[in-house]
Amino acid sequence: MTRTPLIAANWKMNPAPPEAFNPDSAYRPQSGIETIVFPTFLDVRACLEAGLPTGAQYGHPDSTGAHTGDVSMTMIKKTGCQFVLCGHSERRRDHGEKDSDVVAQAESALRNGLHPVICVGETAAERKTKRHKQVVERQVRVLPLREMVTIAYEPVWAIGTGVTPTPEQAQDMHAFIRSLIPEARRETTRILYGGSLTAENAAEFFEQPDIDGGLVGGASLKPDVFRAIVLAAVQTKS
Ligand code: PGA
Repeated sequence: MTRTPLIAANWKMNPAPPEAFNPDSAYRPQSGIETIVFPTFLDVRACLEAGLPTGAQYGHPDSTGAHTGDVSMTMIKKTGCQFVLCGHSERRRDHGEKDSDVVAQAESALRNGLHPVICVGETAAERKTKRHKQVVERQVRVLPLREMVTIAYEPVWAIGTGVTPTPEQAQDMHAFIRSLIPEARRETTRILYGGSLTAENAAEFFEQPDIDGGLVGGASLKPDVFRAIVLAAVQTKS
């Protein structure tokens, strides 16, 4: 069973790189690979209008209501987005999102016809004390894995730090996550690696059999670097 590689750009709280809108930009759909951009809400419409496969960085599980500052999955879907990030570690950290909130988001996304890209991953302290698998298992087991979702394994200590696990350590975790997925979806669910991916290290991660692409933060803001990461995925996975 082959899984189409996926490279997702998480632009976080940064403006969309203007080059993304160029006709030949690497953020555009291309053959043999899927790409997604996750801009801020303010840039979502421009990305959609430019024909970029676009997702929101967060969606509230309720469809409407008294939640100042939030945008619902229902609204995100209506805008024309197809994807939404759920449970990114920065949301878990900055907004106190718990596993149960992440599940509510993922379920709401699915109910609304959005494809959730759900982030999991341990902290440095959890890896140091060898609890990383236990933590990731807790985060993964509660997810709606009977539905088609994408999981992004992002060790918190690798995000924005320039430090990464070895490709073998990442593969070990990806294989473990895959073993937790119900059999009917095990071979078709994509599991992305995220955390300090660069043009230099991307290929060695993508060479691992259970790593189906990447969720790219900082490097995705640099169009040439993003292009190189996309190319690394095309070359290693074809
Ligand atoms: P990074 O971020 O690539 O800048 O480490 C990844 C992420 O947070 O999704």
